[in-house]
Amino acid sequence: MSYSLVCIECGKEHGEESYTCDCGGLLEVRFKDVEVDFKLDGNPWGVWKYRCLLPVKIDPVTLKEGGTPLYRCDSLSKELNCRVYVKHEGANPSGSFKDRGMTVGVTKALELGKKAVACASTGNTSASMAMYAAKAGLKAYVLLPAGKVALGKVAQALMHGAKVIAIKGNFDRALELVRQVCKEMNFYLLNSVNPFRLEGQKTIAFEIVDELGFVPDYVVLPVGNAGNISAIYKGFKELKQLSLIDSTPKMIGVQAKGANPIYKAVMEGKDVIEPVTNPETVATAIRIGNPVNARKALRAIYESKGTAVEVNDEEIIQAQKDLARKEGIGVEPASASSLAGLRKLVENGYIGSDETVVCITTGHLLKDPEIVLKVCGQPIEVPAEFEEIIKVL
Ligand code: F0G
Repeated sequence: MSYSLVCIECGKEHGEESYTCDCGGLLEVRFKDVEVDFKLDGNPWGVWKYRCLLPVKIDPVTLKEGGTPLYRCDSLSKELNCRVYVKHEGANPSGSFKDRGMTVGVTKALELGKKAVACASTGNTSASMAMYAAKAGLKAYVLLPAGKVALGKVAQALMHGAKVIAIKGNFDRALELVRQVCKEMNFYLLNSVNPFRLEGQKTIAFEIVDELGFVPDYVVLPVGNAGNISAIYKGFKELKQLSLIDSTPKMIGVQAKGANPIYKAVMEGKDVIEPVTNPETVATAIRIGNPVNARKALRAIYESKGTAVEVNDEEIIQAQKDLARKEGIGVEPASASSLAGLRKLVENGYIGSDETVVCITTGHLLKDPEIVLKVCGQPIEVPAEFEEIIKVL
């Protein structure tokens, strides 16, 4: 296998340490001479099963990421009158899909001889990066929007030993700043503008096909910085180019109403976004107004003949409760937006009966315990007496 790093806008080739082209375009990895040595045999055990399509040359830094469960959701299928599956990325080592990207990204950092990695984050990227940096023996630096990151994620980044800096600004500003910092300090940038990180995330597509044995009609997922939807679509496209499948699913991006630049662009048929200046949503993971991968994401949506949908906070929380209470799947609010989005598309007739939908739930319930207490209330406290307990049952 060989590969090159190419600008998606002008086609210029770049060295492995570039993140973007001089023309401003995003970069992507393109493969040549791939010899497929895995079988889509119903056993998607993890990211590194698909190593022949992952652009690294050294032994990977791995915490056994990927191989996440794909649940058939009978209760939701009945209610929504279509075949609903949930791929639960919350089951990754750090509790989110970011681990798929970090195993590749941190391995690349070592390969390039870097001593430190850095990211801006709404939380999950930082938790995952800190974990993999610890495993690799690299220093980790994190910029977060102060007061807007769920508690579990900050706890992870701190415990895994990252230097965590909270800025009085939002994620978009943190990303601008960390890009500057990385240039100045020679840190390896591990936000999703890093094309190697996205290579790891494309394995979600491989695992879906591997486990289902066919290509679903739709893949529905939350969109924040817009890397994951681009990565997953690339995964399906590569399987098609290798003649392992003969179609790709329609990609559906779900955004929160207060942070919806991709949704707006799709509704207007545009291929560039207009940033949202003060993004706001209960789903803090996707509280992003200026997604860096917008161009890739819009291509994925248009090329796959998919669409975008927006959901409000109430719809997100309802979907979070439904996943937890009807299917036993515990997810954080951003992840629940996938089900909230699917519900909208079924209601307006976009998705019909007999169609198969895979919702990606991107992060675990325990990432954001504070929101749970807000929407579910506190446990009932009673004196330690049998009668008192019977009274409240
Ligand atoms: N869901 C969760 C739980 C996330 O943490 C994120 C992104 C997304 C969805 C959106 O994915 O950015 O690829 O479109 N979280 C980033 C972070 C921004 O810093 O953890 P995307």
